[in-house]
Amino acid sequence: MGKFQVIDHPLIQHKLTIIRDKDCGTKVFREVVNEIAMLMAYEVSRDMPLEDIVIETPICESTQKTLSGKKVAIVPILRAGIGMVDGILELIPAAKVGHIGLYRDHDTLEPVEYFVKMPEDIDARQLFVVDPMLATGGSAIMAIDALKARGGSNIKFVCLVAAPEGVKALQEAHPDIDIYTAALDEYLDKDGYIVPGLGDAGDRLFGTK
Ligand code: URA
Repeated sequence: MGKFQVIDHPLIQHKLTIIRDKDCGTKVFREVVNEIAMLMAYEVSRDMPLEDIVIETPICESTQKTLSGKKVAIVPILRAGIGMVDGILELIPAAKVGHIGLYRDHDTLEPVEYFVKMPEDIDARQLFVVDPMLATGGSAIMAIDALKARGGSNIKFVCLVAAPEGVKALQEAHPDIDIYTAALDEYLDKDGYIVPGLGDAGDRLFGTK
């Protein structure tokens, strides 16, 4: 089973409270989502492999550490996932960004991918799939299915707020992936909102209703 980690650093908890407040407006919401995503990226990237390289400091030749292994691609699930991309890019500026938009057809119940644009080499990259809310887990599961179908294998899922129902569903569907969240909330209500949650993350990020 992959890792499940609540990244509950005090700064993250403080910032999460700011965006949970219903009176937090679009500008601050957008800024703080990116700030939390950046802080989370620090922890999510903790196990990145290092290798030795020899450099010359102004004083002497020296063996030092440099990142090795897979390069990163951030994959936001449309549309709310876009709100986390810039924050992660602050820490990992060379990451590529793939976008994925999908929904489940009401009649056939089959996933419909309405937009998928990935870097060519996703099979060779560490993929950070991002979506602020892990509610039922439906979109995360479909997005990861779509990435695996294209050769993606090294996948971490990063969200801000998770419902226990979504964590369970995602772990059952994709036991190999690591899940990171800033908070594990109480439950999903009958309309599919996370309680206490923060409402509709996409609407709050983009100022829509
Ligand atoms: N998606 C959201 O944006 N918010 C929720 O509470 C659940 C799903």
